[in-house]
Amino acid sequence: MRSKSSVRNLPVYQPGKSLEEVEQEYGLKDVVKLVSNENPSGCSPKVSEALKGINLFHHYPEPMAPVLRGKLAKMLNMDPRKFIFGNGSSELIQMICRTFLDSGDEAVLADFTYSIYQTEVKIEGAAPVFVPLKKGVHDLDAMYEAITNKTKVVWVCNPNNPTGTLLDQTSLVSFLTKIPKHVIVVLDEAYIEYVTDPSCPNSAALLEQFPQLIVLRTFSKIYGLAAIRMGYAIADTPIIDELHRVRPSFNTSRFAQQAAVAALEDQEFVADWKKINDQERRRLMKQLEEWGIHYYPSHGNFILFDTGYPSYKVFQFLLERGIIVRDRLKYPTYIRITIGTPEQNDRFIQDFAEFLASQVIA
Ligand SMILES: Cc1ncc(COP(=O)(O)O)c(C=O)c1O
Repeated sequence: MRSKSSVRNLPVYQPGKSLEEVEQEYGLKDVVKLVSNENPSGCSPKVSEALKGINLFHHYPEPMAPVLRGKLAKMLNMDPRKFIFGNGSSELIQMICRTFLDSGDEAVLADFTYSIYQTEVKIEGAAPVFVPLKKGVHDLDAMYEAITNKTKVVWVCNPNNPTGTLLDQTSLVSFLTKIPKHVIVVLDEAYIEYVTDPSCPNSAALLEQFPQLIVLRTFSKIYGLAAIRMGYAIADTPIIDELHRVRPSFNTSRFAQQAAVAALEDQEFVADWKKINDQERRRLMKQLEEWGIHYYPSHGNFILFDTGYPSYKVFQFLLERGIIVRDRLKYPTYIRITIGTPEQNDRFIQDFAEFLASQVIA
């Protein structure tokens, strides 16, 4: 057995530890998961109600997700043909690479950003071209300079995971205006619903203006449906038509489609959580400031900060107290925490303060 050369040396994606795993391993109850940028409050109660109504288990789902498509198109005031759905937006990232990248092509992306972009690029035999972030922000000028005639795709994550930084409309417009026509630009807006800053870009307007743009969204974050696996891409119909050629035949389940429809119908849930996330984000950033800790000002539901100590030590200290955070990031002393519920954040603040105190004593 010999897998294809582009796959052979790829690392396997390591998700954050699950609640169940940590509860079992450490004999803990009430573990707090601040690792995968999920919605810690769950999802709209309307979702479980809607799922009770599902039958027809023996029939395949509708591949074009017509009800969900109609709802989204109406909500975003866009042509329904401009949407394509994926088993999470991760699958759309895969489909974009499969559709647009040949072996020998290049894809430009930030160093660092969501890791799955580079994995999918490499699987297609294409080369990721990394452009360092500037103070945690995509350096769009340098990304533009990195484009060659081999470049087929450019990835822009906004807000960026893991730094949480935001690009505004003006900088995106001036970047997109310069991009050669043969290059697809993917604007991944997995966390856009969390943005409260008035400079938040309007991707619908960008899509109108730039036919080579693909916008990615997901139900895994503010909608609290990470388990359900549903994401979507919006783009001009010629791009969507190409993506459909590689879409696995029944890639989104009846459950996912129905759950997403119910979640969309509860915008009050989204607005409430957005407000709490904003309050808690401010509180945590203020606390980090009080500790004199460097962090990236975040527009998402997570914060990346410099603990000042090897991140694996912090990770382990918090894990033993039932808090799972993200370490093993590019910077060895940084961790990323998902913004939890107010009570979960209290626990984080208390336990991390204890960690800092223990280091002073040591
Ligand atoms: C920036 C970004 N894009 C896409 C995804 C994938 O989300 P999903 O496949 O759950 O829709 C994630 C998940 O964490 C993410 O952080």
